[in-house]
Amino acid sequence: MKKQIYMNGEWKDSANYADLLSPYTKEVIAYIPQATEEEVNEAISVAHSKKEEMAKLTAYERAAILEQLTQLFIENRQKAAEIISMESAKPIKFALGEIDRTIETYKFAAEEAKRHTGEMIPMDAAKNGANRFGYTIEQPIGVIAAITPFNFPQNLVAHKVGPAIASGNPTVLKPASQTPLSALFLAELIDQTALPKGAFNVVTGSGKTVGDAFVNSDLVKMITFTGSPGVGIGIRNKAGLKKVALELGSNAGLIIDRNVDLNEIIPKCVTGAFSNQGQVCISLQRAYVMEELYEAFVSTFTEATKKLVIGSPMDESTDLSAMIHPGEQERALNWVNEAVEKGAVILTGGRIEDGIFQPTILANVDAAAKVSCQEVFAPIVIVNRISSIEEGIAAINDSSYGLQAGIFTNDINTAFKVSEQLEVGGVMINDIPTYRVDQMPYGGVKESGTGKEGLKYAIHEMTETKLIVWNKN
Ligand code: SIN
Repeated sequence: MKKQIYMNGEWKDSANYADLLSPYTKEVIAYIPQATEEEVNEAISVAHSKKEEMAKLTAYERAAILEQLTQLFIENRQKAAEIISMESAKPIKFALGEIDRTIETYKFAAEEAKRHTGEMIPMDAAKNGANRFGYTIEQPIGVIAAITPFNFPQNLVAHKVGPAIASGNPTVLKPASQTPLSALFLAELIDQTALPKGAFNVVTGSGKTVGDAFVNSDLVKMITFTGSPGVGIGIRNKAGLKKVALELGSNAGLIIDRNVDLNEIIPKCVTGAFSNQGQVCISLQRAYVMEELYEAFVSTFTEATKKLVIGSPMDESTDLSAMIHPGEQERALNWVNEAVEKGAVILTGGRIEDGIFQPTILANVDAAAKVSCQEVFAPIVIVNRISSIEEGIAAINDSSYGLQAGIFTNDINTAFKVSEQLEVGGVMINDIPTYRVDQMPYGGVKESGTGKEGLKYAIHEMTETKLIVWNKN
């Protein structure tokens, strides 16, 4: 029950501890170290001391470490998934799915470690470039400080630790306060690989204490953060010349054109809106449906949503369980009430039952209601009627966020137009915005963040391009 900080390949007690409660049973499941500023700085120094050793590892060695880690996740699939379900209330079938993705993410990291390289520069394309021979090399930047969210406690950690190892950088990881156990389990697995001790460290505890120490340390060369826009923008404003990659929130939108097959799209919409209790940055939050299909969509979607199995995250049949914190469920309820005051109609849900916020569909929602214009991060989806595709595009773009969006349509011209005009980092044609595989570039525009994840792209962010030019004269 009593956990320790992982630093320099050793497990250490901390000066302070806090209880970790299960979001579902509300019971204490562990006592978690609350790292002090000194402890965080020690972890950063340890990581920094491994900078050269990590930079000297060959691509073959880095890939081999990541392959070892992949294998350890394959062997510990069930245990890793159970930890996720226990600490975050993610239903076990989705937690197993997350571990399968984690395995792929580390596998892609191993492959990218071997592919990542610089390029030849055609020097003599310039008048003054004759007799010069130029190329770039990609060098690791140094200590990567990773701050990760609760909603994918292994896979979103893998999206930071995988590319850090692949690019030859040491890491200090600060997992979300609610999901430290997955990060500490990762440390147990990494400890069994050939990664140099001290090149991966985990500090748990207060986001503010750890985040401030990261921002204030000159030894940290990059902060990679996934979480709320408020915190992310705060990090960026204070980070000075450090590299900063931010994966922030969104209120992902979907356009549903006339003439699409409801039987095909409804199961996807249910998954997109409600998996992991809607606590996904690309969760389907806003559906804009062409008026010809609106009534049929709303009734089929509502019927399908009512069939979701709600209960314990440990039960294999469960589709939806408790949100991460009772306070978050109360917030979600307040946001629903605000939308109703502004004229929205509750088609299903809109209440907390047996300690679980029920999957909720709202129709006719004002664009100024929080459930529409802010990131809801709860099992809530709004469904509004549109009379043209242009109206749908305008509605999706009328947002401070822009991570991913989707459209279901049978019209190729509409698909092209929408993909050009939506102001987002990724457009999914004939899919929900909630679609992601782990090698694709992933990252938003506007307040959804800066920088891209997806192994190749994250590795690029974690290296510095150095130019070498030879004068052949
Ligand atoms: C996120 O919430 O940003 C991650 C979504 C995913 O990886 O599926």
